[in-house]
Amino acid sequence: MPVPPRSPRVSVTEMTELVLPQHSNVLGTAFGGTVLAWIDVAGAICAQRHTGCVSVTAAIDSVNFVAPIRVGDVVILSARLNAAFRTSVEVGVTVQVEDRITAHRRASVDAFMTFVAVDDAGQPKEVPPLLTETPDDERRAREASERRAARLARR
Ligand SMILES: CC(C)(COP(=O)(O)OP(=O)(O)OC[C@H]1O[C@@H](n2cnc3c(N)ncnc32)[C@H](O)[C@@H]1OP(=O)(O)O)[C@@H](O)C(=O)NCCC(=O)NCCS
Repeated sequence: MPVPPRSPRVSVTEMTELVLPQHSNVLGTAFGGTVLAWIDVAGAICAQRHTGCVSVTAAIDSVNFVAPIRVGDVVILSARLNAAFRTSVEVGVTVQVEDRITAHRRASVDAFMTFVAVDDAGQPKEVPPLLTETPDDERRAREASERRAARLARR
């Protein structure tokens, strides 16, 4: 039976982390690998909320570390489903640092990730289509399709 389309709002995921000394290098800024692990978890939760099953990371691309994250910073990761294909989905993750006094959030990292939904045997399985409800949803889905074509061409 075909699965009904799901809105990207169903799978939006937000995670908050506090940067501790064990997450940082000698300069007191967060290791890129630690931030990538947080990105992977936020992205996987978002993908699984959409697909309704285990979804494995197939690719992480366009990760841009645009500003340092320091020990003591509160980090907010936001993941959103950009597009659903046959068995894969693209999730966009942004990482922001929240000022502890003003609560102002500044962008620090963004990334695009591909997750593939798999069955109990680890074989790819079909995902629900994405229900685009706004012009922004449609733009994100269109841009994700263009990125997917470039990504698969590089494989
Ligand atoms: C991802 C994985 C399930 C794909 O399996 P596969 O046998 O190559 O499957 P297919 O060739 O049928 O591709 C399945 C989907 O994955 C997508 N895909 C596979 N490799 C990809 C890549 N490098 N980048 C983007 N998408 C990819 C395909 O485009 C396809 O998507 P679609 O059905 O929406 O068109 C498999 O490669 C795997 O298990 N990889 C390890 C995943 C993992 O363990 N990740 C954790 C980090 S170690």
